[in-house]
Amino acid sequence: MDRFEVVVSKAEALTSRVREFVLARANGAPMPGWAAGAHIDVHLLDVGRRSYSLIETTSPRATEHPTSYRIAVLQESKGQGGSACMHNLKVGDRLEISPPANNFPLHAGAGEVALVAGGIGITPLLTMACELSTAKRPFSFHYAGRSRAELAFVSEVERLAGGNATIHADDEAGRFFDLEGVMTRLAPGVPLYLCGPLPMIEAAIALAKRLDWPQGRLHFEIFTAPEEKSGDSSFEVELKSSGRVYEIPPGKTILDVLIEAGEDPMHDCKRGDCGICQTAVIEGIPDHRDYILSDSERASNKVMQICVSRAKTARLVLDL
Ligand code: FES
Repeated sequence: MDRFEVVVSKAEALTSRVREFVLARANGAPMPGWAAGAHIDVHLLDVGRRSYSLIETTSPRATEHPTSYRIAVLQESKGQGGSACMHNLKVGDRLEISPPANNFPLHAGAGEVALVAGGIGITPLLTMACELSTAKRPFSFHYAGRSRAELAFVSEVERLAGGNATIHADDEAGRFFDLEGVMTRLAPGVPLYLCGPLPMIEAAIALAKRLDWPQGRLHFEIFTAPEEKSGDSSFEVELKSSGRVYEIPPGKTILDVLIEAGEDPMHDCKRGDCGICQTAVIEGIPDHRDYILSDSERASNKVMQICVSRAKTARLVLDL
């Protein structure tokens, strides 16, 4: 299904930097269903595409035939205009959105689950908590931020998780959130779903490796786009199917360059965490910057995520 138009039916401040929006079709018609962990892309004029997780905290069944979508947006202090544009929206404004997609699904089962949210990373986990709570599946819910005043949805977290909710505010605790403690104390095999700022996710990935967690036990979604690294240089990419060659300059990804040139590579997150842009490498050595390849996949250099990864060699030949 292609993009469609929605109208802002509610816009409300939850904290000084988080605003909640409800989006619905102008005629109130049903919208595509979704499941916990899903997001929509909002297409903003002059700014581009921004992804926001969908929120449902009353009943998971409400996501099957929704007539509105609820999202929450953090005003980024160093953003590129997307969050500022979203924060200017008023009731009655119209937007184009893409139908829901899900790169962060809650896997079925009956066993215990742990949820960890940092800041605005709370949004996809709220629906997971709603689903777990309705299914009476055991779960713990850790929600961390710098101060309680900055944490949106605290009462909903407490209502959904009851005594299994832990709210951590750095200023109250006098220390940072103890992610290592949470991960170390989890019973063996309990999966962890985590969403938050990049340093938190990178710490969790490093801890999961150190604790020898099996691949697939840690599930995460990243909200921030990757930053250019100093020292990045240009390289060439050749597409095997057409023989076309593109120059990838510093500050642009392979995916950006291909899209600008009118190619149509598959992609979604553009942050290196969904795997949809994964491409086979026929020649050359990638500089992997994704968050999903295993150590052995990385070392094999046979595949790469073209939305974030670059090249260690002057040229890559890709199976595109
Ligand atoms: S688009 Fe998601 S990993 Fe590249």
